[in-house]
Amino acid sequence: MTKRVVLAYSGGLDTSVAVRWMIEEWGVEVVCVLVNVGQDADSSESFEEIKTRALAAGAIDCVVVDARDEMAEEFCGAAIAANAKYEGKYPLVSALSRPVIVRHLVDQARKFNAQAVAHGCTGKGNDQVRFEVGTHALAPDLEVLAPARNWGMTRADSIDYAQKWSIPIKATKEKIYSIDENLWGRAIECGEIEDPWAAPPEEPYTLTRVTNLSPVELTVSFVAGKPVAIDDQAMKMSELIAALNLRAGATGFGRLDMVENRRVGIKSREVYEAPAALALIAAHADLEDMVLERDLHHEKFKLEARWAELVYDGLWFSPLKEALDAFMNETQTHVTGDVRLRFEAPGLMRIVGRRAPQALYDHGLATYDAADTFRHADSEGYVRIYGLGVQTWAARQGAKNSTPPRS
Ligand code: ARG
Repeated sequence: MTKRVVLAYSGGLDTSVAVRWMIEEWGVEVVCVLVNVGQDADSSESFEEIKTRALAAGAIDCVVVDARDEMAEEFCGAAIAANAKYEGKYPLVSALSRPVIVRHLVDQARKFNAQAVAHGCTGKGNDQVRFEVGTHALAPDLEVLAPARNWGMTRADSIDYAQKWSIPIKATKEKIYSIDENLWGRAIECGEIEDPWAAPPEEPYTLTRVTNLSPVELTVSFVAGKPVAIDDQAMKMSELIAALNLRAGATGFGRLDMVENRRVGIKSREVYEAPAALALIAAHADLEDMVLERDLHHEKFKLEARWAELVYDGLWFSPLKEALDAFMNETQTHVTGDVRLRFEAPGLMRIVGRRAPQALYDHGLATYDAADTFRHADSEGYVRIYGLGVQTWAARQGAKNSTPPRS
């Protein structure tokens, strides 16, 4: 029986060539699965055109799945709850879409009775890790194939290969950047970006070109940690993210330039644009400042970093990540309220106000004016006992610590 493979298909050069290459070299049947995670935002091509290309390359079928709401509500929603930024900066744009794609690959593999899934990643990146570890977490019996790790073709070779097999591709030999995009943002690598000293070029940015020089102020409302409205206009999360990408992006907000540690041991310089992701995480974290009890909040900070690292490392479907999700969910019960954001071109964002019905912020306790309800006298004994250990230690040292250094 011919082996059947379900390929995560993007419509680009590599995955198009992968269809024909796997048929020729491995004698398999290929089913393409194109998962829409919002990458159509500024694309010049329809999914129908992309489907035609998959069939021209030799696929027996090409299934298009619309996973935008699933990506927004489940994956971006969890990332907001965890204020997820890998290494404190990167909002996991590509890392969040891979488990969505994996889930649909496995689903289609079952529907088509396939024995394997395949992806177009090379051996140097994180995405191969996410595809493979994710697939094995959902379907330990499925094989995962990675033709681009085996074929040893350069980009120019792949273009020649596509021409030889009459696969209609748009790629040209001088393409500079590798770009991955979805509704949570865009990741850009290659070209002059590989020189960490060189300032990032303007050219590959699309979401964050400054087209609005006036300040933009808007209010994002959250219910139990989830963003639900902008300026009182209720929206489902995929729409809210798209609207915020437009409004914040037009002021130039949302760019990121970083050197990151990949799972495979490589440091790489990458640039990102993710206006909605960065604005929503900042707003959500600010609202948590109002409502989370101190010890819970401090513990959450530590676990947020771990959550982001696990998701970056391809462990979306894993026991630790699921346990951390339960913790994150538990913390979100009272994260309801409004946050005011102000954007000023080029690229500046400030949070200028927040309010929450369940806030632990208590004006009577915080104020220095006549409305003060705090019992000042209680502090005397509290502070004395709190500092007692240090005071005892200091007494044993004599005057040792009190002499300022000579200048
Ligand atoms: N470095 C980022 C990550 O690992 C972005 C990867 C982008 N992927 C790509 N195929 N261009 O999540």
